[in-house]
Amino acid sequence: MSAQIEATLHDFPSLFSLKGKIAVVTGGSRGLGLHAASAFMQAGCSKVFISSRKAAACEEACKVLNALPNLSPGATAIPVPADSATMDGVRSLLAQVKQHTDAVDILFANAGATWGEAFDTHPDQAFAKVMDLNVKAVFNTIREFAPLLQKRASLEDPSRVLITSSVAGLGVGTLGKQGTYGYSASKAAVLHLGRNLALELGPRGITVNSICPGFFPSKMANGLLAMSGGADKIAKANPMRRLGRPEDIAGAVVYLTSRAGSHVNGEAIAIDGGALWSRGEMLVEEQSKL
Ligand SMILES: NC(=O)c1ccc[n+]([C@@H]2O[C@H](COP(=O)([O-])OP(=O)(O)OC[C@H]3O[C@@H](n4cnc5c(N)ncnc54)[C@H](OP(=O)(O)O)[C@@H]3O)[C@@H](O)[C@H]2O)c1
Repeated sequence: MSAQIEATLHDFPSLFSLKGKIAVVTGGSRGLGLHAASAFMQAGCSKVFISSRKAAACEEACKVLNALPNLSPGATAIPVPADSATMDGVRSLLAQVKQHTDAVDILFANAGATWGEAFDTHPDQAFAKVMDLNVKAVFNTIREFAPLLQKRASLEDPSRVLITSSVAGLGVGTLGKQGTYGYSASKAAVLHLGRNLALELGPRGITVNSICPGFFPSKMANGLLAMSGGADKIAKANPMRRLGRPEDIAGAVVYLTSRAGSHVNGEAIAIDGGALWSRGEMLVEEQSKL
């Protein structure tokens, strides 16, 4: 191959563009889902559907998104409140989206819940709650939206499913008084669900990938951050000496949903500054012995 051919990239300026794409974001009213929705709106999406249980929260998020500077022309956020944890809720979400479009290009299955409780008293109901929302609901949402995702999908320009897992699904979660046993297991399960669906849906022109965030300040994470010694302590222990930022989510979701990420399928990207691999004090001790 000649240098001329090897150096030529097809239309680089559009590589990270989501121009004209239609996205659905569950758990989009705040936190990581809202960071991603903002990125979708600014990267070119024409419609971004914002879903969570509370209608007022979805409307408020859409108001903020629709007033963002730097929106791509015509970009609109549309509230579609629904409880993803129930089959009725998933069907209601689909019906609401169908009132506006018969095609969806990006599904961000991000809604999730956690539960912290000691091992000895960890309740059955806690396990059921996190498995239902974090795993079963993700499967149900992807299955129900598959026909809309297939509508404009092609192997050349695939539709995208993104799942929010967690580094708690790659390593272990929190142990002790606030043990997140069910949560950690659910996030590992949904990662593997993603790999299965990547092979099932790839040939239909739909990629399936997961993001595995570390600690990002959010309503869900703030309580655990406080109980683990505070945001500053957790940030200092991170190899990058900080917690996650909205732009860290924005960059990852735009990469995975744009043409730049179209050959990534069945993957999981950790967004945690490398904290998963750090061995804390053990490493310091070993180094001091050298
Ligand atoms: N923040 C972190 O450090 C972190 C790290 C790793 C993974 N994650 C994952 O990231 C995802 C988002 O978490 P977050 O930190 O952004 O938390 P968050 O700020 O508490 O947001 C959770 C979102 O999910 C919605 N939601 C909760 N239950 C729902 C249900 N049954 N149906 C539909 N929507 C529901 C909430 O809105 P409503 O209350 O209105 O329903 C809200 O929009 C979760 O899957 C979480 O496990 C977060």
